[in-house]
Amino acid sequence: MSNLKEQVGIKAAEFVTDGMVVGLGTGSTAYYFVQEIGRRVKEEGLQIVGVTTSHATAEQAASLGIPLKNIDDVESVDLTVDGADEVDSQFNGIKGGGAALLMEKVVAVNSKDCIWIVDESKVVETLGAFKLPVEVVQYGSENLFRLFETKGYRPSFRITNGKKHVTDMQNFIIDLDLGRIEDARALSDELDHTVGVVEHGLFIGLISKVIVGRPEGPQILEKN
Ligand code: A5P
Repeated sequence: MSNLKEQVGIKAAEFVTDGMVVGLGTGSTAYYFVQEIGRRVKEEGLQIVGVTTSHATAEQAASLGIPLKNIDDVESVDLTVDGADEVDSQFNGIKGGGAALLMEKVVAVNSKDCIWIVDESKVVETLGAFKLPVEVVQYGSENLFRLFETKGYRPSFRITNGKKHVTDMQNFIIDLDLGRIEDARALSDELDHTVGVVEHGLFIGLISKVIVGRPEGPQILEKN
């Protein structure tokens, strides 16, 4: 299959079975997973309930006839499948290139199991070449921006159509151009304790499996 994103999306759908509550990720890779789940619901009568991670995925899933519930109406999610922007050998990664990191992380922490699906270009030795998205409340965001500048994090506001991007949860995104993140856990802790930061795109210790799309076929990496 020439499209590596489609390859891993379809592969990940094999881990979904009847009766599951399934977290449906966001982005151009998760798109194919959601399409395949929609196909299985329609053609194979797969019985699942989906929980979505963005308005865009909710629209896609609804258009495919996938039964949906709100995250607050399920006790937990059995399996979430989502894309990522970078993943390292410890299965830590960066998400939020599509600005959906807050809803994605809420669904991920409520999930018993999470699988990431990525094409091989997303697998890295050290995180940070991809700008780290940080979701911030609008109030005081210019001051937060200046704080990040002082720390040397080279921030930029995410811009859409000439304006500061507003997320599904009505916040702004500040992308940090870090180049190389030496200690992802320490940075995650620091951002967790920065007032005005709602959430950030570092996902640490949340993933059990990564399915990597390669020209020779999907490679399934399991956490030891
Ligand atoms: C959405 O905010 C993101 O976290 C995506 O899951 C991530 O950016 C991967 O997207 P692609 O599959 O489109 O590269």
